[in-house]
Amino acid sequence: MGDYEVREIGLADRGELLIEWADAHMPVLRQIRGRFGEERPLEGARLGACLHATKETAVLVRTLEAGGAEVTLCGSNPLSTQDGVVAALARAGTAVYAWRGETPEEYYRCIGRVIDHRPMITLDDGADLVSTIHSKRTEVLEGVKGGSEETTTGVIRLRAMEADGALRYPMIAVNDTYTKYLFDNRYGTGQSTIDGILRSTSVMLAGKAFVVCGYGWCARGIAIRARGMGANVIVTEVNPLRALEAVMDGFRVIPLREAAPLGDIFVTSTGDINVIDREHLKRMRSGAILANAGHFNVEINIPALEEMSTGKRRMRPNLDEYRLRDGRRLYLLAEGRLVNLAAAEGHPSEVMDMSFSDQALVAEWLWKGEKLEPKVYDVPEEIDAKVARLKLSGMGVEIDVLTEEQRHYLTSWKGGTV
Ligand SMILES: NC(=O)c1ccc[n+]([C@@H]2O[C@H](COP(=O)([O-])OP(=O)(O)OC[C@H]3O[C@@H](n4cnc5c(N)ncnc54)[C@H](O)[C@@H]3O)[C@@H](O)[C@H]2O)c1
Repeated sequence: MGDYEVREIGLADRGELLIEWADAHMPVLRQIRGRFGEERPLEGARLGACLHATKETAVLVRTLEAGGAEVTLCGSNPLSTQDGVVAALARAGTAVYAWRGETPEEYYRCIGRVIDHRPMITLDDGADLVSTIHSKRTEVLEGVKGGSEETTTGVIRLRAMEADGALRYPMIAVNDTYTKYLFDNRYGTGQSTIDGILRSTSVMLAGKAFVVCGYGWCARGIAIRARGMGANVIVTEVNPLRALEAVMDGFRVIPLREAAPLGDIFVTSTGDINVIDREHLKRMRSGAILANAGHFNVEINIPALEEMSTGKRRMRPNLDEYRLRDGRRLYLLAEGRLVNLAAAEGHPSEVMDMSFSDQALVAEWLWKGEKLEPKVYDVPEEIDAKVARLKLSGMGVEIDVLTEEQRHYLTSWKGGTV
């Protein structure tokens, strides 16, 4: 066993079974691991990863290790680590520093321990690793060849670093590939957010007024799945195009101020701050349930909720009741952290199969290629297309192929109205 810091190494057997189950549902990553095992394209690379430490992430870590990389891992959220999974990784020799329920100080200490291994490539989910390296651990910057970013909020932070002239090494926006956000953000967050709400509350969704804040890729997935469970879904937005999409997808779109007194369940997934603010909390019905599926726990104004309350108690795992001064009760799930990871198991393995295949192929591409300028880059199109092809074949789905005539027609301008 190498160096590690986990909650309970004795949970390793249980974690190994979870990893095996995820692996069985990740055929594309398995195929990449087979090739990596033969070609060892990451030989000599030290990879530092700050990702949700779930069973699917363990499959990614083992794929990268099969490719010859030395991987160190910490969690990218204090509540998303699966303790058995990290125990299994640690027992098998991966340097891992993560446990569920880290304090903010412990969270950043774990990031520091990953940086101590002097990563040459970084893998981030939310940009906490890259921003810590750039702000507090600049001594390792020179040795970093590049990095990848898994989520929307992380890409937004990186683009802000680039605009400020602060970014010192190239970052690849894995989030922005089709094989990531169209599936992971939409169907992954959609299904697992419902899963998190049900595991923590066990309430009936049919007939509930279910307010979704945002209509981006994650939020629309949540809205579609909540409707599928029979909820009456209301959408709130600030972007007119996204709001229009929601209207034409058949959702009721109103300002959150108006939705506040109507909702039974509220879910935010915007990447924004104080989306559910004091004025909304004041107008909510007693019994309303609040959850967040955006990256950071700032989408619901929890400090305001605390101030408005005379006390709180934990009703069941991941469900806190706040007693307000006016007698109402509001229920917050998973302390406002991403409910699908903190109260459930995160995205299903099938969808992480695509996101993490993108990650594995991007790591290989970064390591084997020339060092790039310090900018934010899109994933090369070939990688996206390759992952889509492999996923389809893993699902046993065949598609048509362009004929020579069609290929020619689609690239010429001469054939008009006939
Ligand atoms: N829970 C998860 O597992 C998971 C997975 C992927 C992404 N994320 C995170 O979820 C968040 C959303 O990601 P996305 O890919 O859907 O982003 P996106 O950019 O596609 O959508 C965000 C939407 O929120 C809207 N919005 C912003 N402020 C708002 C406000 N005050 N009220 C209503 N709407 C508002 C924007 O107009 C936009 O349409 C990000 O923080 C991302 O990192 C979480």
